[in-house]
Amino acid sequence: MRLCFSMYSIEMSKILCNFAHIQHFQMANNKGLGKAKVGKKDEFYTQLSDIENELRHYKPHFKGKVVLCNCDDPRISNFTQYFILNFKALGLKKLIATCYKNQNVELFSENAAEKAVYIEYCGTDEPSGIPTKEEILKQVKELKGDGDFRSRECIELLKEADIVVTNPPFSLFREYIAQLITYDKKFVIIGHQNAIKYKEVFPLIRDNKLWLGYGFKGGAAHFISEYEDTAVAGNHKKGMRRVSGGVGLTNLEIGERHEDIILVRKYIPEEYPTFENYPAINVDKTSDIPEDYDGLMGVPITFLDKYSPEQFEIIGNCCDTDWLREAGFKPIGAENIKKLRSQGNMAHVTANMPTPYIITNGKIELPYARIIIKKK
Ligand SMILES: C[S@@+](CC[C@H](N)C(=O)[O-])C[C@H]1O[C@@H](n2cnc3c(N)ncnc32)[C@H](O)[C@@H]1O
Repeated sequence: MRLCFSMYSIEMSKILCNFAHIQHFQMANNKGLGKAKVGKKDEFYTQLSDIENELRHYKPHFKGKVVLCNCDDPRISNFTQYFILNFKALGLKKLIATCYKNQNVELFSENAAEKAVYIEYCGTDEPSGIPTKEEILKQVKELKGDGDFRSRECIELLKEADIVVTNPPFSLFREYIAQLITYDKKFVIIGHQNAIKYKEVFPLIRDNKLWLGYGFKGGAAHFISEYEDTAVAGNHKKGMRRVSGGVGLTNLEIGERHEDIILVRKYIPEEYPTFENYPAINVDKTSDIPEDYDGLMGVPITFLDKYSPEQFEIIGNCCDTDWLREAGFKPIGAENIKKLRSQGNMAHVTANMPTPYIITNGKIELPYARIIIKKK
């Protein structure tokens, strides 16, 4: 059963119209849109609507808690804005937000300042529960250093936090998640589907220490960005970048994770070829998982959107060559590579690699990004 949490008492869109000081955030956004250059490719900003859509499922987790947004300028970030506006409704104890090498109130940080700023916000006396712009700005203080989430002063703030919520820099994702695990923190963060395949991340998913949140509509995120939108599919909006494969990652309990996938297909050997080099069947779509098959199955990584730990066990990640070898996948072999090339397939595979492959109608196929699972 999907758990259904009630919506927040504060209706965000109304607040955005009614409270002039909130336009401060939006002015900052617009100012940045015209700038041509930025330092790194990490400057993607999360829309308030996407934050609301994800976090409305976690409401009970926040009561009495200290929340840290550690890649977020407190004057600009929509994560910060979300927690300030909902501070009372969520029953938060404290919000801490730190940013990286930024002093300017501009959305697209060039990370040019040596120092950064932060806020420790514990609520307001305003009867509405919403602080004034002046009240927020008065509480913004300088950090001693550059605000790097790995710096000593940021780690001290991390230690104080119960739950970390942000969209961290994708270029540092491995380190970012490793730090959360080292300090045993609860978190809801935005990442990319590719990160699931990382050696540092997949074992956490396999061992049920990390799972997918609710994510973005249609599996594609639209971030506020001044980078050129290079996507070829879906909606395109000026000032936004479409990123397909954006996911929410969390270790907070959510109802969706315990819903069984309803399986309707039956196992027919001809429709589910067994890998030639490993005793698991190949399943092309999560909805095609046969309900009557108890052995090992290779399913697309998107299965994790629907994964329930009560229904399936995750065995391994076919994107991890070390695991493939350990698990006993046999090398694909020179003959098969020759055949593959004669089919026009130029995939980066060599004869000694334990790449999972199937043969259908005499043709070699390399199913993409499979994970191996088993029914419980
Ligand atoms: C993907 S953006 C997201 C920004 C904001 N969290 C949001 O969702 O709108 C990642 C942010 O992390 C910042 N960043 C880059 N390196 C960092 C570091 N070492 N420590 C903390 N923040 C960093 C970038 O400046 C950027 O603003």
